[in-house]
Amino acid sequence: MTTGRPASAPGFFGPTGGIVWHLRALRARGSLWRPFRADLEAWLAGWQPDADSLLLVGPSAGWCLPDSFLTRFRTIHAIDIDHLAPVLFRALHGRALRRAGTSLHWSQTDFLSDPPKVLASIKKPAVLFCNIMGQLRFQLRDEALVEAEVLRVKALLAGYDWASFHELLSGDQPPSRSPYAPQALGGRPEGVDILAHYGLGGVWLDHLTGALLPETSARMILPWRFGPRRLHLVEAGFVAREA
Ligand SMILES: C[S@@+](CC[C@H](N)C(=O)[O-])C[C@H]1O[C@@H](n2cnc3c(N)ncnc32)[C@H](O)[C@@H]1O
Repeated sequence: MTTGRPASAPGFFGPTGGIVWHLRALRARGSLWRPFRADLEAWLAGWQPDADSLLLVGPSAGWCLPDSFLTRFRTIHAIDIDHLAPVLFRALHGRALRRAGTSLHWSQTDFLSDPPKVLASIKKPAVLFCNIMGQLRFQLRDEALVEAEVLRVKALLAGYDWASFHELLSGDQPPSRSPYAPQALGGRPEGVDILAHYGLGGVWLDHLTGALLPETSARMILPWRFGPRRLHLVEAGFVAREA
């Protein structure tokens, strides 16, 4: 099945990923992004899908993905539209994967152009959306289209163990002395409640991902100091395969 969505932007200078993203990540992953990466690693440690293989959707170079998580799987399939992602991913994670005996397969394709085909090509993988769903609004622009795409992806995953971390909200925020702490949440919290929890004001961009996780899923908010004056509130949750 294909949709009427616009073709993906080329991966070098696209609205998500590409050279600008890689340079930013290279600079920030060991400093500004360190707390977020640690929080993400702790959250991923709690996801124990019943699968030997893992499909990573939009992992880029895996700048934020820990080896401790990737090496738990026998096989990893990674799919990203970014031309640079495979070589950088191997540079960052190749050695740990080889040591662990994890095989890595890359596909430079648009996952959203035909998700059922991608899913059917791999034997029952666990699926991890790597901060891609919050980027849809930069690619599709039309808000109704983004919301429809989010629901379509969720429906397609019913037969899989899957997880996603994705931006819910982002906004300008002056530097803070200590990082904002992750917060576990039940139900489907409203953006205003999350902002109130952290005592945040100002103008926030809604990434239109609020309906991705089923209402019953446990979820965490992982605050990500994306830039010195920019804060992203990332939602992370996992969903068990429907029997
Ligand atoms: C914000 S980056 C994710 C970074 C990643 N979490 C990391 O640790 O480095 C989003 C990635 O999704 C990829 N992407 C966006 N739309 C895609 C699509 N339709 N299919 C596959 N990959 C896509 C982009 O190329 C980009 O690498």
